[in-house]
Amino acid sequence: MLRDGFNRAVDYLRLSVTDRCNLRCVYCMPESAPRYAPGADMLTDDEIVELAACFAQSGFSKIRITGGEPLVRPGLPSLIGRLSRVPGIADLALSTNGMLLPDMAAELKKAGLKRVNISLDSLDPARFSRIARFGALDKVLEGVEAALDSGLTPVKINVVVARGMNDDEIPAFAALTRSRPLHVRFIELMPMGETGFFSEERWVALREIMANAGPLEAVPPKDRPLGHGPARYYRAPGALGSIGFISALSCGFCASCNRVRLSSSGTLIACLDATRGTDLRGPLRGGANRARLKALIAAAVRGKPEGHAMDGRLKNRSMNPRLMCQIGG
Ligand code: GTP
Ligand code: 5AD
Ligand code: SF4
Repeated sequence: MLRDGFNRAVDYLRLSVTDRCNLRCVYCMPESAPRYAPGADMLTDDEIVELAACFAQSGFSKIRITGGEPLVRPGLPSLIGRLSRVPGIADLALSTNGMLLPDMAAELKKAGLKRVNISLDSLDPARFSRIARFGALDKVLEGVEAALDSGLTPVKINVVVARGMNDDEIPAFAALTRSRPLHVRFIELMPMGETGFFSEERWVALREIMANAGPLEAVPPKDRPLGHGPARYYRAPGALGSIGFISALSCGFCASCNRVRLSSSGTLIACLDATRGTDLRGPLRGGANRARLKALIAAAVRGKPEGHAMDGRLKNRSMNPRLMCQIGG
């Protein structure tokens, strides 16, 4: 398994399969159409599978498919089938906005997908549509049920919290975990992309989110939902599901980071907040063999930064220049 320059084992690949999205959430994308990468720059299915094999041979055993919205990529179930057969890949998961899940959940499960994390920022239909700009709450809720019914479990719900956007709904989201096997994760807003949304006033600290999500008790390791990301889990006493917190700013998790990202146009990004990456598409299309590609992956992992620089961004109001949809979250 590869280790970076800070002796962290890196075995989790977040694999973006498109920078396109069928929604345009206020904190994630600007209202005007973002500059999507030209189609010719997007990795093909064959290229993604070849790179996934290189990562697997380098010791990566967990892949999460991200976007943009991954389910808008044509032929995704077939790509998932191929990725699930790459030797060494033990966990294959996907992050989605859920809109297309009602139609696709069963097919994705059959293809070899193990589980899904679904973004959902409001339980109020009108507010949901304001936040997601094009979304429909009933579709996403149907998607949650389809994921549970198809066995794409554990099903996690990602809630990005922002002041004045949805911070009054924390108790309602927490309540979802009482009688259903759902794992709700509250995510601190991150200063990513020039969306015009992020500000210090909108940012809600972990401490405040937790105070509104309580009462909470610790979850013994054996009861924690399967996962490899930065969330820390608690639960409401007696609840079927759990409540997780992802706080890049209040409570840094970089010291235990285990992941890198591959963009849909083939750039290996060693940290969510990195401003540069390693191009794998050029070498791949130029005929580089696996040994060469694996050497590039190893070098990028070795050069992984110690952590993000979001604290400084919060103070200076300087966003990371990349939009979340260009990195895959
Ligand atoms: P599992 O724990 O395996 O279920 O997945 P995950 O939590 O890693 O994946 P998901 O795509 O659901 O990510 C949830 C949130 O965590 C998103 O907002 C991500 O941007 C954020 N996140 C994941 N990894 C990192 C990271 O390395 N750094 C930062 N700052 N945020 C991250
Ligand atoms: N801050 C925190 N989370 C974000 N996401 C998108 N943009 C941001 C941001 N600025 C989340 C999405 C999804 C995940 C992949 O990333 O809501 O849950
Ligand atoms: Fe699309 Fe996800 Fe970004 Fe919302 S958060 S605009 S669903 S990529």
